[in-house]
Amino acid sequence: MNRNDFPMLNKDLIYFDNAATTFKPQIVIDRINKYYINQSVNINRSDYDLSQELSTEIEKIRTQVKNFIHAEDSKEIIFTSGGTHSLNMVVFGFCASYLKPGDEVLTTETEHASLVLPFFELAETNQIKVNYIDLDKNNEVVLENVKKAITPKTKVIALAHITNVIGDVRPLQEIIEYAHLHNILVIIDGAQSISHLKVDVKQLDVDFYAFSGHKMMGPTGIGILYGKYNLLEQMKPLILGGGVSATFQKEGQYLLKNIPEKFEAGTQNLSGILGLGSAIEYLEKNRDEVYLQKLKKYALSKMKEISQIKIYNEYSKGPIIIFNVNNVFSQDTAIYLSKKKIAIRSGNHCAKLLNNLGLNNTCRLSLYFYNTKEEIDSLIKALNNENILEESL
Ligand code: ALA
Repeated sequence: MNRNDFPMLNKDLIYFDNAATTFKPQIVIDRINKYYINQSVNINRSDYDLSQELSTEIEKIRTQVKNFIHAEDSKEIIFTSGGTHSLNMVVFGFCASYLKPGDEVLTTETEHASLVLPFFELAETNQIKVNYIDLDKNNEVVLENVKKAITPKTKVIALAHITNVIGDVRPLQEIIEYAHLHNILVIIDGAQSISHLKVDVKQLDVDFYAFSGHKMMGPTGIGILYGKYNLLEQMKPLILGGGVSATFQKEGQYLLKNIPEKFEAGTQNLSGILGLGSAIEYLEKNRDEVYLQKLKKYALSKMKEISQIKIYNEYSKGPIIIFNVNNVFSQDTAIYLSKKKIAIRSGNHCAKLLNNLGLNNTCRLSLYFYNTKEEIDSLIKALNNENILEESL
């Protein structure tokens, strides 16, 4: 990946907070600007050329996303405002009518709030139950424990593909295969995986897959919900407005359009969709997971040499390392590193059930393809200091 493609990399900052959001290459920024400078009209409503051309271009990006995740049909791709919006759509638009009182949803204590909280709300309103899969000694999910957690009432399994704190890659293929044998649907939060794994929704046979654009070098405010055609047909839209109805009448009757239109009320984030298209193009050309894995291995080996550092997820396969410096609160370490112009995240990373596993308040280093060995060396030099707490003040 060419670092010159990223204006943010010209700043005096070493950026290791890529699980929160990634930097955008110039090609994405240019595409957004092109929309506002040359194409700033609406789509699907008007008969002039510019609007019609833009409508065609937006649909091409839907097809591009379909190809990117190997879906069957571009109608299975819904544009949303982000991964959180996508997951909320599935929980409140689909699960709310699919799940009956007493039904059970299986998840884990290492999931992000965007997956857990909507189900907590549904547990309250629809009398369903949220249960947890036991984790192994590395806090990872193994099929054996999924099998043990399933009961005759389990109807849905909801998990991240890669978690945003432990960074473990879930064995989705085997989980989904087993779940389907028991008529259990599988909903996947792909926010952290979409940049790093080649996602093939057809091969996985996953029922719903959600992700956001900004964690894959795209703009903020744009996300994707993939759902199997027949499930999306059953799913209800959460918001109604322009573009979703074929007809409506004074007495209140209305007829919704088909998928995907019925889920995309109002004017869409058009510049976001265009920017996402460019981000996918850039990612497909420049993704280098071998390089990233080497970089992570290097960072791990150097961090392990520092006796005052405790690493909590040594064996996870994602590009994330969580750690603490002995006797230093995670936020103080982050503030100290910030003074050295190094950005990491600290705290509980929106995965507050991790507290139950004794993993509250950690420092998180999350790597991306543009990070370098020299940047890791700077981090190691900064962490090799016995006065971190004093110097954070
Ligand atoms: N979910 C994002 C993170 O893990 C914001 O930092």
